[in-house]
Parts: sequence; C-alpha cells; structure tokens
Amino acid sequence: MNVHDKGHADAAAAELSLADKKSTLPVRSGTLGPDVIDVGKLYRDTGCFTYDPGFTSTANCSSRITYIDGDAGILLYRGYPIDQLAEHSSFLEVCYLLLHGELPTHDQYAAFNTTIMRHTMLHEQMTRFFTGFRRDAHPMAVMVGTVGALSSFYHDSTDINDPAQRAMASHRMLAKMPTIASMAYKYSIGQPFIYPRNDLDYTTNFLQMCFAIPCEPYVANPVLTRALDRIFILHADHEQNASTSTVRLAGSSGANPFACIAAGIACLWGPAHGGANEAALNMLAEIGSVERIPEFIAKAKDKNSGFRLMGFGHRVYKNYDPRAKVMQKTCHEVLDALGIHNDPLLKVAIELERIALQDEYFIEKKLYPNIDFYSGITLRALGFPVSMFTVLFAIARTVGWIAQWKEMIEDPEQRIGRPRQLYMGAPERNYVPINER
Ligand code: CMC
Repeated sequence: MNVHDKGHADAAAAELSLADKKSTLPVRSGTLGPDVIDVGKLYRDTGCFTYDPGFTSTANCSSRITYIDGDAGILLYRGYPIDQLAEHSSFLEVCYLLLHGELPTHDQYAAFNTTIMRHTMLHEQMTRFFTGFRRDAHPMAVMVGTVGALSSFYHDSTDINDPAQRAMASHRMLAKMPTIASMAYKYSIGQPFIYPRNDLDYTTNFLQMCFAIPCEPYVANPVLTRALDRIFILHADHEQNASTSTVRLAGSSGANPFACIAAGIACLWGPAHGGANEAALNMLAEIGSVERIPEFIAKAKDKNSGFRLMGFGHRVYKNYDPRAKVMQKTCHEVLDALGIHNDPLLKVAIELERIALQDEYFIEKKLYPNIDFYSGITLRALGFPVSMFTVLFAIARTVGWIAQWKEMIEDPEQRIGRPRQLYMGAPERNYVPINER
C-alpha cells in the first residue's frame, strides 16, 4: 500500500491494491497526532474488511476533546496540558472545559457550579435501590445498577434528540454521581446515608457524604480535599479508552445517556482498566517488603507465570504516564499532611519503580508506571477502602464519558457502531436430527 501526499491536509490518499482490485483511500489529518486512513469504502472496493482486534491501529471517531501523545507522554484536555490543569484548575472547572470546549469566565463558572450543586440530591425513592443490594455487594455492582436505574426516574431528560434534555441529563449525572457513590459506600459499612450539602464545593461535598456521620460535624482537611480534586482532574477523560468507547458504542444505538454511562461503569470495573489501582495496591501489599521485589520482578518477566506488575504499562503511553508524575507528587503531599512518614507500601512502590525502570525487560517493552501505580496508596491514605477505588475513578470519568457521548450525538458522521468480523467457525451445513447425531 502506498500513501501519496498531495501536499495539503486531507488531500493525501492511500492506494491499496489486492489482486485485480484497487481502492483509493482518503488520508485525513487532525490538528495533532498521526493521520488516519479512511477505510470506509474499502469493503465496497475490495470485498475485504480490516482486522484489528483491540483497535491498536484504528481510530473510531474524530474528536476535539482530549489528545494523547503516548510516545512523548503528553495528555491535553481541549489543548491544555494535564499538569497545568492539575496545578491550577479545579475538577468542576475541568468539567466545564471538557463539556463546553473552553475554560469558563467567572460568571460562567458560578452559573455552572450552581447548576451542578442544585442537582446533587437523588429522588428519595432511589434510596430503596441501595437497600435492595446485599450488604457485601461490591460498590461497583451498586454503581452499575443504580446509575442504570436513573433512566427510570428522570424521564424528562432521556430524549437524546433534544439538546436541552441532553444538557439536563449531563448535569444530573455529574451532580448525582458523588451522591450515588457515597451512598454505595455508606450502605456497605452500615452507616446512614448523608445528604449532599450544596454550600460546599463539589469535592468537599463528596468527602462529607462519605465520611460525615449524623452525630458529628465533618471537618475537611484542605490538603486532602485538594488531593482528591486533583485525582478527579487526572481521571476526567482519556480519549477513546475502553469504557469511553463502550459509552460511545452504547450511545450510537440511540440508548439514553443514563444507560450509556452505566455501560461505561461496567467496562471500567475490569482490572485491566479502572480496577488496576485496586490491583496495584493489592500487589504492593502482597510484595510486602523491599527484599521481595526481585522475586516479583522475575515473576512479571516470566510469561508462564501469568503475573504482571499492576500499575505498569499502558496501551498508549510508551513513556512515563504524565498523570503518574502528578499522582506521585500528590501521594507524597497526602502522606505528609497525614503525618505518615514511613508507609511500608510507599517504600515498596518507590523501590519497585526504581528497579523496574532500570530493568532491560521493562525498558525494552517501554513499560512505565501508569496513574494507578500511586493512586491506590493515596486513596487508601484518604480513608477509602480498596473496593471504592474504581468508584472514585467512575465519578471522575463521568464527565469524560458525557462529553464524548454528547460529541458523538452531535457528530453528523456518527452511525450505529457495528464492527465486522473474520469468521472462523463451521461452514454452512445441514441440520442433523438429534437421534441421528
Ligand atoms: N508487567 C509485565 N509485563 C507487561 C506488563 C506488566 N504490567 N504490561 C505489559 N507487559 C508486557 C506483555 O507481557 C507483552 O510482552 P510480549 O510483547 O513479550 O508479549 C508486552 O509487555 C506488551 O503488552 P500488551 O498486553 O500487548 O500491551 P497492551 O497495550 O495490550 O496492554 C495494559 C496494556 C495496560 C493492559 C498492560 O500493560 C497491563 O496489563 N498492565 C497492568 C494493568 C494496569 O496497570 N492497567 C492500568 C492501565 S492505566 C489505567 C487506565 O487507563 O485505565
């Protein structure tokens, strides 16, 4: 196959010839990043599909929201570098940025804050959903169920063709996700649900819903609040990752937004995606001491062991994950603020990172710590049980899912997502009656 550059953006073409068939495939250029070969006409021209399990070379959409350069370790939300946003912005401001494309003015921010904070309460009848779950249910199971159930309560915001209803559904999900998450947590520990407080900021309100009890006031530690707010910023979007692609695919059929976000939560639950910080923390605990690190490094390098260093490696980042750098700093800030100076897991993590980064196996495969490597230690220090880690990720990623869903609905190129396959099963054969088999 040849790619002919005709000298200006979107004017190049790739020629593909296959036996006597030819296809001229347009090459499209984005603002940043690799060009894409538009294979939309390939089947019509050649009778062939493309084959790319895991979508390693496939762009499924065009997007203006998030840009990643995995080789350079760059992550931009609407063009702004993640480290600048983590340093100077707040999660709610980042939500506005992701949804609307620009940073808000003072007035826009105040109006957005009011809108979100006025939608934090859940329909009271929804509390009964929580009590229907077994006490030992994983909070992600509760999240999948209850977020999906939102569509049965808010009928006035499920018409995806009405922009006002789309906005209402978006605001409701952003506002209610922390309430749902904290209720899942409170239920699991047998404490009463704590109602939202709209005079607090988004993240402080979430912390009070998790950690306040009716008999004592909750006093937020600003360092810890800021740390969680930053963790939310770091997780807010990550272009076409597995859960976001799930949300887009679910949404492409016209499903309502609450159902689509529930699908995203289900996908996020897996250990190769959102569940990795839980797995990374469990791994650090299993390693237990610095002396045992070489044994685990050897296991990670042994293909037959089935063991991987959790919190290491990334499909896109083949360089240090830019979020991991901010996460590492945040981890130290949280432990300092709490006076934890000798956390054994942090010791193991720092040493494991040091050894792995010098090891030929990890260097050659470009395996660097990802965001999940330090986030588990930080979230545990903030007081969250391991089972809540992925739930916190879901709160943060909700805005990314919504922004991407909204972009897809408004994209004139969007059609129902319907991948094809390479069929390897039995060829056509005749039915054999059961007594003749
Ligand atoms: N430990 C040891 N070896 C690894 C690891 C690891 N963590 N990650 C990848 N490899 C090896 C893998 O065995 C393979 O070797 P070979 O080429 O010899 O077969 C090579 O590196 C490439 O791995 P891959 O599975 O083809 O890469 P991928 O892009 O499909 O997977 C990944 C990316 C994140 C699933 C994988 O690196 C992994 O399982 N990491 C551990 C789980 C983890 O930390 N996940 C969090 C991802 S970041 C959070 C998020 O964005 O959701």
